[in-house]
Amino acid sequence: MSEKKQMVGDVYYPTPEVVAQAHVPDYEKVNSAAVADLAGFWGRIAAENFEWYEPWETVLDESNAPFYKWFVGAKVNIVHNALDRHQRTAVRNKAAMIFEGEPGDVRVLTYQQLNHQVCKFASVLRSMGVRKGDRVTIYMGRIPELAIAMLACAKIGAMHSVVYGGFSTEALHERIEDSQSRVLVTCDGAWLRGQIVELKKIANEAVDRSASIETVICVKRTGQEVEMVAERDHWYHDLMNLPIASPKAATEVMDAEDPLFILYTSGTTGKPKAILHTHGGYMVGTATTLKWVFDIKPEDIWWCAADPGWITGHSYIVYAPLVLGATSFMYEGAPTYPNPDRWWQLVARYGITILYTAPTAIRGLMRFGESWPEQHDLSSLRLLGTVGEPINPEAWRWYYRYIGKERCPVMDTWWQTETGSFMITPVPSMPLKPGSATRPFPGLQVDVVDEEGNPVPPNEEGYLVVKTPWPAMLRTIYGDPDRYVNQYWSRYEEQGWYLPGDSAKKDEDGYIWIIGRIDDVIKVSGYRLGTAEVESALVSHPAVAEAAVIGVPDELKGNIIKAFCILRQGYQGSEKLAKELKDHVGHEIGPIAKPATVEFVSTLPKTRSGKIMRRVLKAQALGQDVGDVSTLEA
Ligand code: PRX
Repeated sequence: MSEKKQMVGDVYYPTPEVVAQAHVPDYEKVNSAAVADLAGFWGRIAAENFEWYEPWETVLDESNAPFYKWFVGAKVNIVHNALDRHQRTAVRNKAAMIFEGEPGDVRVLTYQQLNHQVCKFASVLRSMGVRKGDRVTIYMGRIPELAIAMLACAKIGAMHSVVYGGFSTEALHERIEDSQSRVLVTCDGAWLRGQIVELKKIANEAVDRSASIETVICVKRTGQEVEMVAERDHWYHDLMNLPIASPKAATEVMDAEDPLFILYTSGTTGKPKAILHTHGGYMVGTATTLKWVFDIKPEDIWWCAADPGWITGHSYIVYAPLVLGATSFMYEGAPTYPNPDRWWQLVARYGITILYTAPTAIRGLMRFGESWPEQHDLSSLRLLGTVGEPINPEAWRWYYRYIGKERCPVMDTWWQTETGSFMITPVPSMPLKPGSATRPFPGLQVDVVDEEGNPVPPNEEGYLVVKTPWPAMLRTIYGDPDRYVNQYWSRYEEQGWYLPGDSAKKDEDGYIWIIGRIDDVIKVSGYRLGTAEVESALVSHPAVAEAAVIGVPDELKGNIIKAFCILRQGYQGSEKLAKELKDHVGHEIGPIAKPATVEFVSTLPKTRSGKIMRRVLKAQALGQDVGDVSTLEA
């Protein structure tokens, strides 16, 4: 790229080798063509790289915005593109998925083997009466059966609703209730730091609270004794050995706009939102962004170290790599188990070529020093990536220097559960600035604006907005279209812009620097949590009358949760009670949601209408000016 153009700040230019092999050697050229003709750009990509049962009539239908439609009239199934079509080519014998469990067990599934497993499980689900449009909740650890279950649902046109295995009873229950799933796929347990996370036990508690689940299918992973309820519960391996589990199963022909899955994410109110993605646009968006941003080649071993339970894993462990016919690596456990070099060992052992992870993980491993990565041959790596929260330049440089050995560009990808695919991200041929997600993916127009929608001057903070639709965009909030409109499209209704809920800055070179959330969402170690979810878990404890939580900056986790609790009469604040409340939140939502500190208070700052002013609590906690408190209750 143009080394001649003088850019501002700490800039890392790509090497000629990186540019030479990049799918997008000249970002400016591709981007300006895409911006000039967005529908033409995506239409060409969709026609040339994917198989459709029937073509579309219209690439992009904006007539009922913000309910945008992509590839209208086309018939497709993402699984046809992820598995079926590869059975006709040499890709059939290639590793689709390489898995290493935390205890060290290894499994390799070729495209053919994965297809057989998916067909078998799809047949099992069909035999249980699961049909197009039904919801299936999946609650598992990071094992291949999680991907098999997702793909089997998609194959028969059922929507999967994956609940992250780090979530606990109430979080799972709430998501089952909202989706009204009749089937739950789970496993006995998951390995984490040498311990068993008792997933089936948690699933049983959640199902006890839910009326909709009729069938539970349980994968045996950790092997300990678990309670299986007669009639309701079945072992996965028993079902997969039945004659009905056929290795051949038809793939349901779907409309491009038919739902593929729902995935719950935290928002500003207590109830998590079911973000809905579709077969056609999501397929085109995720596969294209992965190919261009991480320059995927047939020989790559791609490792997205996220959990399939989050959007990162849905898009970039399961769907996009398979659609591209790539090899995706999956590791079950903790990065530091049994030692802080487990990841580096994996990179060397499997010859990982591209590693994609979260800043929190990088900071966590950085703590142990470079002597750990230095013990391993990391020369197979050619690209690195990060996602989930802003990366501090210090962590970026450590990653670039000690993991990428100053050879591997770092792709800082900004996106969301809602966006489905990368939105603001470099491509490898682009100059990089540590801490900046750089520029929008070709075709996309984003800006940083003030309340009225005017662009703010360079380097000033404002609201991030997205001005154009994109194929992998969410289509709605399942069961709540009004909330979809209010949440994302009402702030800049006149302009028709999407509001992601982040603040950002844009520098003189047009590079975007994400600052953080502007709403009541807290990012803890890259995990997205709603203040209201944690607060309702706290008040479900008998000692707590009222609670408010805020995010406080933390060097390692990005943010940690601080809780303020007003106790019911007859309860006394103590260290013991604080611990009990933290554990209670862990039990209800999951360990990631545990407050780091609990403070007992007698009042909470509220507006006259009774809304808790978390902004005031946060300013006080950080020793900052509390700002305008004119709406504060007298
Ligand atoms: O605040 C942004 C942050 O994560 C939010 C989206 O969270 P979630 O839906 O859980 O998806 C995370 C994985 C795609 C965003 O609103 N975020 C995500 N990526 C970045 C980021 N913040 C800064 N830099 C990023 N690269």
